[in-house]
Amino acid sequence: EWTIENFIDIEVDKIREKVGNRNVLCALSGGVDSSVVAALIHKAIGNQLTCIFVDHGLLRKNEGDEVMKVFKDDFHMNIIKIDAQERFLSKLKNVSDPEKKRKIIGNEFIYVFDDEAGKLTDVDFLAQGTLYTDIIESGTDTAQTIKSHHNVGGLPKNMQFELIEPLNTLFKDEVRELGLQLGLAESIVWRQPFPGPGLAIRVLGEVTEEKLAIVRESDAILRKVIAEEGLEREIWQYFTVLPDIRSVGVMGDARTYDYTIGIRAVTSIDGMTSDWARIPWDVMEKISNRIVNEVEHINRVVYDVTSKPPATIEWE
Ligand code: XMP
Repeated sequence: EWTIENFIDIEVDKIREKVGNRNVLCALSGGVDSSVVAALIHKAIGNQLTCIFVDHGLLRKNEGDEVMKVFKDDFHMNIIKIDAQERFLSKLKNVSDPEKKRKIIGNEFIYVFDDEAGKLTDVDFLAQGTLYTDIIESGTDTAQTIKSHHNVGGLPKNMQFELIEPLNTLFKDEVRELGLQLGLAESIVWRQPFPGPGLAIRVLGEVTEEKLAIVRESDAILRKVIAEEGLEREIWQYFTVLPDIRSVGVMGDARTYDYTIGIRAVTSIDGMTSDWARIPWDVMEKISNRIVNEVEHINRVVYDVTSKPPATIEWE
């Protein structure tokens, strides 16, 4: 009989047998798949697993600390956090084309990971959180590239590692169940999708530290209000974007000329299609008021009421 408990027992045995007394490396992003794969392998081989977590400076508010708390403090994993903010930001300077931004971030991620992995001797395996659906999707060559998706699954092809992909027979809902069974918090297991290029594709146009701060703060407020209102599970994905426009406003009796924040909140099954979430007006009011009051340089908030298609979920 197939149960999550049996799955864990079988996979733990398989991983132990395959790895023996050798070592495994894992690129941890804090997303559901890489978190679950790290927890599973850690259960099997403990400190023979080393995780590398790249903080590219494009994460959401407090995300880096939360990842370290869970995996280092609670799970006691060998985890190396690389603070690569400056490296990524300097590469992104003066770049405003969305596809260029995505490519730069994807490549830089590989360089940073490579540099760090190169310092570790004695690693034979690379663990990846590839799911069954990832295999199916990458098998279809009819799918046209709308955006060059990057995630930590897409690592160097020329690396001298043998792959371990223990989730590659599972669907997302099974991965979540597995994560809970392995002791991962609901906040990780039910984390909303977050793109590999992070906040860089939510700051439209050129990415600067100032703009990242605006999108990060407004996003934190949005997430807080949605959580307070108990809407987290109803809305599939929700975030703020910073379009590259400014408009006129009034504050006290002074004129302002500042940025607009866009709210994107969608319902979806798998991200392939989506509809905009019908968030109650009074919740919208709270979100809007808090953002204009608490985030500097924002004097206007707009809601994206477009389905996918024709719009994509992310704005870049
Ligand atoms: P779009 O914007 O294409 O997004 O409608 C569909 C889903 O994919 C996420 N997304 C990404 N995920 N790397 C990822 O791992 C990426 O480069 C990337 N781009 C978009 C997006 O957040 C949504 O959930």
